Amino acid sequence: MPYTASWRSPSNIALIKYWGKQELQLPRNPSLSFTLSSCHTNMKLTVAIEGPASLTVLYEGLPKSSFETKIKSFFSRIDTYFPWLKHASVTIDSNNTFPHGAGIASSASAMSALALCLQDIDDQLQNHTTKNAGWWSHVSEIARLGSGSACRSLFPTAALWGITDGVEASSDHFAIPWQGQLDPFYTTFEDTILIVRDDEKPVSSSVGHQLMELHPYAGARYATAKENLFQLITALKNAALLDYFISICESEALHLHALMLSGPNPFVLLEPPTISIIKEVWRFRKESGIPVCFTLDAGPNVHLLYPKQYKESIMDWIKTALVPFCAAGKFIEDHIGSGPEKIS
Ligand code: PMV
Repeated sequence: MPYTASWRSPSNIALIKYWGKQELQLPRNPSLSFTLSSCHTNMKLTVAIEGPASLTVLYEGLPKSSFETKIKSFFSRIDTYFPWLKHASVTIDSNNTFPHGAGIASSASAMSALALCLQDIDDQLQNHTTKNAGWWSHVSEIARLGSGSACRSLFPTAALWGITDGVEASSDHFAIPWQGQLDPFYTTFEDTILIVRDDEKPVSSSVGHQLMELHPYAGARYATAKENLFQLITALKNAALLDYFISICESEALHLHALMLSGPNPFVLLEPPTISIIKEVWRFRKESGIPVCFTLDAGPNVHLLYPKQYKESIMDWIKTALVPFCAAGKFIEDHIGSGPEKIS
């Protein structure tokens, strides 16, 4: 009889960016993210332990062989955790609520969902039912081996990944929940994602991380990221420091893309509408006094972060001033979420 596990796991948006890694997905600098909600992966894993060994990957119910290489390489990294994987017949069936590969961290939601499903099957095999803090750290570590940023998707509200001075239990191997110290004001944050392009990006994050190894500014970047994280933590503990939060968030997004532009093999993931949106955010914030800011992932789409109390005015502004910059007028309304959920 095959074993099955189904989980829903969200994407996350990094405020302090992870860009540069060593060994097996260990970060060159710590990062901190907000957990999203509407942008998530639903996944069902079916495993016949007795084999014969096989891997079937379905996306929206249809075969998706292009995902197989990444999943096989992930499986080879985690077969010491799950020895049964080597000889099992595995079927992964998933769907995303958002476009794959468009710079909305689809690997974060997919790999965290897969780590959860694999651990769930392993728990069934071992008759293990407890899901304590150690269980979540362990799943976060497994997710990290699939995609670094995925390790941050396991926790409600906010997560921190990477050894950080003054943050107890922080680790390069897994993320830790970071909601406890957050001023409750930030838990009301919305993230409206303006879709500038929804096709596959031309340079993957894996290539981007690799290029950091030869980057002339790598050392300065890792030091700045640590300093920015320290400042962001201070701002996140106190809503009165919102202006500070805004300037760190935007600076991190611009640094990420500046690194891409200034490396030995430069590449551009920004698109002209991305720049127009950034300028319009600055104009609108100055003129209206509404605290909305942007951040960017490794892609051209713009995440607008703002407190829920301003949603109505911001949606009016988005519809009139920003939708013209979006591909087919598309945007996704998301907000800070409560982390993964077991479906069955
Ligand atoms: O997890 P990866 O390898 O897809 O890298 C993610 C990198 C960024 O999204 C740009 C930043 C981050 O911290 O999520």
